[in-house]
Amino acid sequence: MTAQRIDGNALSLQLRADVAQRTAALKANGITPGLAVILVGENPASQVYVRNKVKACRDSGLHSVLEQYPDTMSEVELLSRVEALNNDPSIHGILVQLPLPAHIDAQKVIEAISPVKDVDGFHIASAGALMTGMPGFWPCTPYGCMKMLESIGYDLKGKHAVVIGRSNIVGKPMAMMLLQKNATVTICHSATQNLKAMTLQADVIVAAVGKRKVLTADMVKPGAVVLDVGMNRNEEGKLCGDVDFAGVEQVAGYITPVPGGVGPMTITMLLVNTLEAAERSAACTLIQK
Ligand code: GUN
Repeated sequence: MTAQRIDGNALSLQLRADVAQRTAALKANGITPGLAVILVGENPASQVYVRNKVKACRDSGLHSVLEQYPDTMSEVELLSRVEALNNDPSIHGILVQLPLPAHIDAQKVIEAISPVKDVDGFHIASAGALMTGMPGFWPCTPYGCMKMLESIGYDLKGKHAVVIGRSNIVGKPMAMMLLQKNATVTICHSATQNLKAMTLQADVIVAAVGKRKVLTADMVKPGAVVLDVGMNRNEEGKLCGDVDFAGVEQVAGYITPVPGGVGPMTITMLLVNTLEAAERSAACTLIQK
């Protein structure tokens, strides 16, 4: 059996069409959703990511600004930019691209972003809201994974989901989202003793480690759903995920490719979060009037 591919580009197109429509509706009421992206330093990968984010916004009709600063920018200067954007009514979402230079405390900067504009979902208030099932912004990559499961009509209730990776950006929020949909969730990480024994029990596997071939065909139960969050380069410099795609594709029921899988969904969910931030702010404005 060859797994069915979950196409992140096709799903993104559908979701972005909805974003464009809702954005047009807000604009008709005089509100243009706005995203501010801050990049500090010259990390080439980050430069590509932020350009893609800003372009995706513009393509869907959102307003977006990119603020680029040299890596000599001080923490105080960055915090003051974040504060200015918190108070800017044309900006509904603020994203500070990570990693930041070593002399800047990234967590302090994230906590300085107003939770109502935290479209990355990295603020402690957002993490707490996710953990307790309260309304708040969900981090874009795991949120995109959930949309991919939804797109194949997958019911997580009672299923065993194994998340490989425990980062604050993907692994931990991913586990919370799966739990919220009534899956039984196992989080595996670098100190997990027998990863294969865990993954072989899984109905859903999310690989989010940042290392090639973390998941191979012999580790997957036939028919399982495999979501690959990895973004790595192989020996030839080609983009690849954490999953040994050619092998796992022969065993899994569904699989996400790299590229064209979770990657485009991350940006799409950033657009969704920014639009929702603008819609919430518009609703508040209407209530106040
Ligand atoms: N660096 C890598 N991925 C991300 C992301 O989703 N958001 C931010 N702010 N920085 C990142």
